[in-house]
Amino acid sequence: MTASNLSAGHAGPNEPEPTLRLADQRVEQYRRDGFIAIERFIDEADVARLQELYDQLFETVRVSAADRLDLVATDDGATATIPQIMYPSKYIPQLLQTQAVANARAIFRQLLGEDAVMSFDHAISKPPHNGAETPWHQDEAYWEPELEYRSLSIWIALQPVTIANGCMSFIPRAHHSGVVPHRHIGNDPAVHGLEIVPGAADVSNPVACPLPTGGATVHGAQTLHYTGGNTTDTTRRAYIIAGATPAHPRPQPRTFPWRT
Ligand code: NI
Repeated sequence: MTASNLSAGHAGPNEPEPTLRLADQRVEQYRRDGFIAIERFIDEADVARLQELYDQLFETVRVSAADRLDLVATDDGATATIPQIMYPSKYIPQLLQTQAVANARAIFRQLLGEDAVMSFDHAISKPPHNGAETPWHQDEAYWEPELEYRSLSIWIALQPVTIANGCMSFIPRAHHSGVVPHRHIGNDPAVHGLEIVPGAADVSNPVACPLPTGGATVHGAQTLHYTGGNTTDTTRRAYIIAGATPAHPRPQPRTFPWRT
């Protein structure tokens, strides 16, 4: 699997046709709020296929240490609190032939433009009775500050998600103000994950997005989002597919001090 396979913008020979197109009203809602929730992103059969591939990914496939990141714990070999695998489709190329990826690519083109391609995917597995939250952040805070991005992420629920097992929450309309100051979680530089600096944004009125199995949320690179811990008896699994148009140098440079 090469980067060019991963970023192929259009359906390959084995990729199904998309089964989803957003109504104009949903597109407007996305632009206004910075996110939307889609109750039925893929159907049961495709969820079952994803679950099967997901089990292979976490149980049998050898994933390089560089692609096994813990969102919250430090990368010093301590027990992972939220196991995360970057670029799962690099290890399991069959993921690229799923309905989830076909529908994601259709949404990338619809919301970002015809030159939008799949740029990244990851798998996050939040174990039962795990209090670790993914604190408020904007995805763009992780990226090169010199570039301008047109990008979004689709977060697909592989079982029902609720506040109790860590569904996504967002701050509506907070994506028009640029990237706010971030820091390493808990202000500990050894932790990979980022969080907004306390007080950098008003997160007092979040919108939680519970979803049925196969539902998904769509959010932009500057949309503030959060997931809580998993207080239930079962693992909360999510497959995330990101898309982007080619990034360009920003006319007005900026700095992200937390990345240095
Ligand atoms: Ni994020």
